[in-house]
Amino acid sequence: EKVLQGVVAVDGPSGTGKSTTARGLAMRLGARYLDTGAMYRAATLAVMRSGVPLDATVTDADGHDDAVAVALGADLGMSTDPAEPRVRLGGEDVGAEIRGADVTRNVSAISALTEVRRHLVDEQRRIIAAAHDDGSGIVVEGRDIGTVVAPDADLKIYLVASDTVRAGRRSAEDTSAGRATDATATGADLVRRDRLDSSRAASPLRAADDAVEVDTSTLDIDGVLDRLEELAADRGMLV
Ligand code: DC
Repeated sequence: EKVLQGVVAVDGPSGTGKSTTARGLAMRLGARYLDTGAMYRAATLAVMRSGVPLDATVTDADGHDDAVAVALGADLGMSTDPAEPRVRLGGEDVGAEIRGADVTRNVSAISALTEVRRHLVDEQRRIIAAAHDDGSGIVVEGRDIGTVVAPDADLKIYLVASDTVRAGRRSAEDTSAGRATDATATGADLVRRDRLDSSRAASPLRAADDAVEVDTSTLDIDGVLDRLEELAADRGMLV
């Protein structure tokens, strides 16, 4: 059995299959798995629960400072086992809640805050270093992994997929999680979040110069994983 060594960065817009791919690769290759989007989502939930109005984070200096203080004080617990990737906030498992519509609507506002990004990027680098110290490989998914969090990653993947395929996947996820879904609204929300994520000043979504683009529109999950495994093998990451 081949085991992954080193760091794989998986970036790309929502709905391109990042989580399925990154987690599946970690499972297949005996590596750790980190979902950085879950960290921005949990920080967003912390701000929402604190009662600090989310609108004020952009328009008002005090609101901004209050939101940053709550996000930086949030007690996040990330497990990096791909078989059970739990997200805890103050010890509570918030894995389901952070993927609901309320958090999804607000996460772009919080993930645009420079101070929040700096703090979570530090956390992410710490988790990556801990995997390295354990002798484990790690697959890290997000928007800025190859560009900011782990610019020295051994393999950088940038996933893309057509808008139609992405909206369909997100709706299917909502349905299987028992959430109400509306394909038109889901499509519009994806496009809106991409625009916010790509145009923000702090670490906008973009492919690293040395990333390999993989289009998942017409590949099934095994096809994507085979391709990634091949790229990791080419780089001598499988031992
Ligand atoms: O991948 P996701 O949908 O769970 O990400 C949630 C939000 O967090 C998304 O709107 C973009 C943001 N995000 C980010 O800015 N940087 C990351 N590394 C990961 C996610």
